[in-house]
Parts: sequence; structure tokens; C-alpha cells
Amino acid sequence: MRLVITKDYAQSARLTARHIAAAVKKKPEALLGFATGSTPIPAYAELVEMVKRGEADFTKAHTVNLDEYAGLPGSDPNSYRFFMDQHLFVPAGVNPANVTIPRGDAPDSHAELKRLREFSAAHRTDLQLLSIGVNGHIGFNEPADIFHDSYHLVALTQQTIQSNSRLFSSIAEVPTHAYTMGAGDIMRAHSIVFIATGDSKRQAMRAVLEDGPVTPEVQATILKFHPNCTLYLDAALVEGIAPGLFVQVEQAPKDA
Ligand code: PGA
Repeated sequence: MRLVITKDYAQSARLTARHIAAAVKKKPEALLGFATGSTPIPAYAELVEMVKRGEADFTKAHTVNLDEYAGLPGSDPNSYRFFMDQHLFVPAGVNPANVTIPRGDAPDSHAELKRLREFSAAHRTDLQLLSIGVNGHIGFNEPADIFHDSYHLVALTQQTIQSNSRLFSSIAEVPTHAYTMGAGDIMRAHSIVFIATGDSKRQAMRAVLEDGPVTPEVQATILKFHPNCTLYLDAALVEGIAPGLFVQVEQAPKDA
């Protein structure tokens, strides 16, 4: 793992956006894996600005998303499809025909999972963007006894429901289940770019970066085995974390 320590979250977002833009520049038809949640929003905003300045071009890119709430149609403002359209796909000019994302309101969840698994088996992601949940989840791979290989339906933990309820008008409205890419799908990506910030993520990041077990109890620990994973973390987040020998640590250039 390559850990780039940034001066602050804004710099993490800038470097994450440049990392993604560089991948599309190198391979315009790349398959990019995207994530939702509050963390990637500034990186998406930066990508949109880069598109406006002519420094990034997504018109030929393909995208796949990690997850989606079961039951929510893409028109629901809390759906991840809506989020992606709003923060990236529409303003960055992503071709809707090139977008793959779970359909939260699919009438037949088995058929939807089959569609997603077939897509994943047939297409290897070039660059997967990840952030992390307080409990160490990646996508909606919640703490479990196993690592799932591919897309599956997951029951959200009470902690995740609680944490995500801030975006809904009441906790009762938070869906209890979600479609998510499996840890196996994530690990098959050629490369991973990872962003996190905030004290609430420190415990999970410690499990990822320090010597210690790779365990489905903290799903993100599987990233220790990924051969090309870059993490942009601000200095405040990594304070008190002692990265293991398998982590190559560098400081972001001050003026980047
Ligand atoms: P957050 O969520 O960015 O809203 O903290 C991240 C996640 O749950 O993966």
C-alpha cells in the first residue's frame, strides 16, 4: 500500500481527483469504480472543475458503482444513483449508457444480482475509488464472518443505519438492506485510490495500516493484500497510527 499523507482533507480531495483524471487521460475508455457518501464529494467537485477547465474528460469513460440502497429508485434523492448523477455523472459529462450501478428498485433482486455479477465477471475495473465506514466497511461490505466474492444483498448494521440517518428525514426511512459489490470484486480492480478523513475513521484506518490481521470483521483490512492501492489521508487522521512495514509512506508535496 502507498500512503500519501496530506496536509488536510482538501488536499486529499485534490490529489484523489488528479489521480482519477490521470487514469482517464491514460485510458479514455477506462472502467472507473465510484463510491458514494460524504467523503468523496470534494474530490468529485474537483473533478467537475477539472472537466470545466479542460483538464479531464469522461466522455468515453465507463463507470461502475460499489453499492445502492435496496428499495430506492434512482429518482430518490437519497439513492446513490441520484447522488452520482448530481455530483459527477451529469456535471462531468459521463455518458449514461456507460454507467453501471445497482438498480435499487429492481423488481427481482435475484435477477439484479445476476446482472451485476455478470458485469463484474466480464469487466475488470481499472481504478476503484474507495472510502471507509466507521466500522471498516468498503462499499456496504459490513463486518462479517467472510469476505464476499461478488455483488450481494446485505443487511445494514444498526451502526451504519444510524450513521447514514443524518441524510434522511428520520431513521425509520433509512433502507435496511443494500446491494453491494463484494470484497472480491474490489480486489480484482487493477488499482485502488482511497480517501478518508475524520476522527471517527481512525480506528478502522489503524486496522488497515498497522500490522495486524486481515479480517472480515474489518472488511477494509483485505486491502493490505492489494498490489496497487494508494491512500490519501490527512495528517490529522493518521496521527497516532503506526503504519506496518508493508505500507510505503510519503508526504504529499506541500504546494500540491
Ligand atoms: P461517509 O461514508 O463518507 O459518508 O463517511 C463512507 C462509507 O460509509 O463508506
